[in-house]
Amino acid sequence: MPNPQVLVPINAPRPRDALGRPLRDLRISVMDRCNFRCPYCMPREQYHESYRFLKSTERLSFEEILRLTRLFVRAGVRKLRLTGGEPLLRHNLPDLIGDLTSIPGVEDVALTTNGVLLARHAAELKAAGLNRITVSLDSLDPEVFARMSGGFGGLEDVLEGIEQARRAGLAPIKLNAVIQRGVNDHTVCDLAGHFRGTGVIVRFIEYMDVGNRNHWEAGRVVPSKELLERIGARWPLAPLERNYRGEVARRYAFTDGGGEVGFISSVTQPFCGDCSRARLSSDGSLYTCLFATHGSSLRDPLRAGASDEELSALIHRLWGARADRYSELRATQRPAGDQHKVEMYYIGG
Ligand SMILES: C[S@@+](CC[C@H](N)C(=O)[O-])C[C@H]1O[C@@H](n2cnc3c(N)ncnc32)[C@H](O)[C@@H]1O
Ligand code: SF4
Repeated sequence: MPNPQVLVPINAPRPRDALGRPLRDLRISVMDRCNFRCPYCMPREQYHESYRFLKSTERLSFEEILRLTRLFVRAGVRKLRLTGGEPLLRHNLPDLIGDLTSIPGVEDVALTTNGVLLARHAAELKAAGLNRITVSLDSLDPEVFARMSGGFGGLEDVLEGIEQARRAGLAPIKLNAVIQRGVNDHTVCDLAGHFRGTGVIVRFIEYMDVGNRNHWEAGRVVPSKELLERIGARWPLAPLERNYRGEVARRYAFTDGGGEVGFISSVTQPFCGDCSRARLSSDGSLYTCLFATHGSSLRDPLRAGASDEELSALIHRLWGARADRYSELRATQRPAGDQHKVEMYYIGG
């Protein structure tokens, strides 16, 4: 466990990592468990009934999340995203959202969910102050959907969740669709067509080699360029400016005014150069890359009585030492420790 050595004054300069990147975004995994078993994330043969997930006492409490988040905001974080596992499995999540949105300096609080429990929670999430929501939906074909959720999902529930989120005013809603060759790539135009003109923005994500358990194969990746051509041949598309520096999706507008779609091309067009994201696992470890091989516990020093200044010093030191650029190196060399990458369900997407 790293020991905080240098104290950081409250108004200290914000840290930059070893490649000059600031810390702007924090993804907080509030729950390592999930009610789906998407084969590309938590294959059911690995995450079976006797799999040992975290005990509730091992997970950060809301109070601990809030304390750490305040320190991350001091270090430059402005945007928060709650994720998992499935974040809507965490009881009383709106209470946490309400408290996070009231931290001075926090400009945006978003949530990523598989949507299956969303219909019943959408209104209270909005009322708590949630700004934005991303729902994961890989296909509208019920059979493909069932296969891609590990047989656990309810497509109708997810669609109802999207509708209730829209009614609650959680707009613009984004959809994440992971595309795998030979699995759901034949359904991308259905997805784009279904949500065209509704204000919902579908983003197609290249299947990534996160973790070690999803049996990733490069041959299953469908390059965004191919999808862009396929969708563009049906409905002409024109590139849009990015909304902000570091935005991961490349945006395209339907030229007939039907809205926009996005492409997240972590495999074929890595975006490490602008990455300002830190990730906090449900048990309070800080990961500085989605493909990291290890994290550093903030929970342990926090529970051992570390002061805010000591925890801030640790955050500054960990971010300052960050040199991760896994996706950029993937193409040219096999990154060291490849076999022990952290699993995505544990740190969140
Ligand atoms: C890990 S999930 C957590 C939140 C929630 N359970 C959900 O599915 O939206 C976050 C995002 O990561 C994406 N994801 C998981 N495994 C992936 C992989 N191997 N490649 C690309 N995206 C992946 C999911 O599709 C989802 O949009
Ligand atoms: S992608 Fe989301 S819904 Fe699917 S298994 Fe992973 S955490 Fe669960």
